[in-house]
Amino acid sequence: MSEIEYRVLSTDEQNHVLPLLARSFHAYWEQTALTCTEYPYNEISHGAIIDGQIVGHVGVIPYRMSDGRGGFPLMGGLASVAVDPDYRGRGIAKNLCKSIAEWARQEGYQALPLYTGKDRVYESAGWSNYPGMRPFFAQFTQHTDNQQVMNSAQLTQEEKLQIRRLYEQGEDFCGKVVRGNGKDYLGWDRLMKDPDYTYALGDDIYAIFMDGAVVECNAAPQLSDTAVLAFLHRLSAPSGTLELALPQASRVRRALQEANIPMTPSDHDLMHGEHPMNLDLESPGLYATLPLVEFPLADKF
Ligand SMILES: CC(C)(COP(=O)(O)OP(=O)(O)OC[C@H]1O[C@@H](n2cnc3c(N)ncnc32)[C@H](O)[C@@H]1OP(=O)(O)O)[C@@H](O)C(=O)NCCC(=O)NCCS
Repeated sequence: MSEIEYRVLSTDEQNHVLPLLARSFHAYWEQTALTCTEYPYNEISHGAIIDGQIVGHVGVIPYRMSDGRGGFPLMGGLASVAVDPDYRGRGIAKNLCKSIAEWARQEGYQALPLYTGKDRVYESAGWSNYPGMRPFFAQFTQHTDNQQVMNSAQLTQEEKLQIRRLYEQGEDFCGKVVRGNGKDYLGWDRLMKDPDYTYALGDDIYAIFMDGAVVECNAAPQLSDTAVLAFLHRLSAPSGTLELALPQASRVRRALQEANIPMTPSDHDLMHGEHPMNLDLESPGLYATLPLVEFPLADKF
């Protein structure tokens, strides 16, 4: 076999990767690849190239997250990992990941997180498993006063801006993403176009739902815990049950605990067979020095 070159792709080369992604990820990429001629997100694409043909691809999504103590380290989310079916089983994905780790270290990235159900591919290149966010049920009393839940197309521009403001005012936690704009994958425009997420908006508070669970909830600091709990109560099913997946340090969890609302773990697989893995690029590693990096589900890539 000819020699394999591993390197960053030019914008033009990146656009030519779309058919490979469509073949590798039917559900997610096929429609995008059919309707786009340009790569839709701000991703740095790395390719495995044989005789001028791109046979493997890994995208790096650049973003910054809070480390929960005032720092905003540069992260590279690994996504769109695909190898042409004719070239699988030859170590191409593993070598692409290794080559990206070397590149990312030089570029100043501190860690390369990802979500997968195919652990061995990344383990073989040095990644290790990292705990994901565990959903839980909160049990309120029965009620009939339901809060309206909307898809993002039903939100006005002002309501969208209000949600963004509340996110920024919401509590800091290790793993909170600095959400960008435009073509940023970890940005508001992409999030609000994604039909998997729906929104509830109250006075100075909002929640984002995915698969029936609250995966994000932020309130203005001046809003009382009583008002936060009343909003959640209205979000619960008429039986009073509400499923949530929120950071350990979130205000909502604390308010639920202080109000003695019963909470029980849920087995619901909100990541659809995937879980977080990470590769630290520094020594000592970023993740190794932080107590717990939360992976909010609204920012899953
Ligand atoms: C997953 C995929 C990228 C693997 O590419 P590849 O070049 O064949 O993988 P490699 O040959 O580098 O394999 C590296 C290691 O991962 C293992 N591996 C390969 N494919 C795997 C899979 N689908 N599931 C679990 N492990 C896998 C290999 O056995 C090897 O392990 P080893 O080091 O113990 O021998 C490729 O099958 C693909 O494009 N699949 C469709 C898209 C996809 O699922 N992407 C991953 C999303 S997380």
